[in-house]
Amino acid sequence: MNDSVDPLKNGVVLAEIGSHSNGPWCAEYGAGAALVVMGTFIVDARDDVPYNPNFVFKPGRENYGDYLNEHVAAARDSGAAVGVSVVSVNLDDTTDFLLAAEEAGADYLSLCIHSSMEMFVSEGLGLALLRRENWPNLEKQVTTILEATDRAFIPKFGVSGGDDAEQAVEVMAGVGVNIFHVNVGDALSQHGSQVISRLRQPGRVLIIGGGIRTSEQAREVIAAGADAVAIASAAMDDPKLCGRIQAELQESC
Ligand SMILES: Cc1cc2nc3c(=O)[nH]c(=O)nc-3n(C[C@H](O)[C@H](O)[C@H](O)COP(=O)(O)O)c2cc1C
Repeated sequence: MNDSVDPLKNGVVLAEIGSHSNGPWCAEYGAGAALVVMGTFIVDARDDVPYNPNFVFKPGRENYGDYLNEHVAAARDSGAAVGVSVVSVNLDDTTDFLLAAEEAGADYLSLCIHSSMEMFVSEGLGLALLRRENWPNLEKQVTTILEATDRAFIPKFGVSGGDDAEQAVEVMAGVGVNIFHVNVGDALSQHGSQVISRLRQPGRVLIIGGGIRTSEQAREVIAAGADAVAIASAAMDDPKLCGRIQAELQESC
């Protein structure tokens, strides 16, 4: 496990946008960012996964090894560090996919704890993993990934207030996670800045997203205590946005 903190400092992360963010898409839409995150990919044995089939793989290296080699290399053309996000009902499949991403050259490995898909939530996975009753499994998933892989690890999840998600950060921190990608819904709201100040800690890297569309907004979120900002929706509208905000942040922060 390594920490790879500095490359993200005051930077822009092109957040995962399922069905879009494969390697070439990240290269174009994340050009000049600090980090682009491919995925989220689903690994599952079923034939009827209700998700873009281009982002679904059957378990086994033979099904995704070549894809990851090709797409991580393509995403490198962004000039950014490359992350890969996955979710699966099977922890061995999650871990193997992330290991394959590491072997393909990915710099960051991300577990999607953001999915509201029934196939995950009904198993206590996806965003349900943040619920208090599922924390033992959250701890197990995170520990297994950290032990199996060598790249920096980023759990990605949403915090909407009044839930267990914020405290789940401490569960993950307790087993060695120090980078968190948090969708706070509206990063510019009072709720957003309160979440940032509650989660902020020395040695912890907070990637904060939710409604960020401009350099001014990104600066505001960083001033509130985020280390990096994540952008999804606005980036889909403007492929140059991430690079432009990254350049402006590096000049001013
Ligand atoms: C079309 C679309 C697809 C998304 N797909 C994923 C996904 O596959 N995995 C994930 O963790 N988040 C996904 N997200 C959430 C984004 O990564 C991001 O956290 C969220 O949209 C907030 O950022 P924004 O306000 O800049 O869009 C998706 C968002 C959008 C709009």
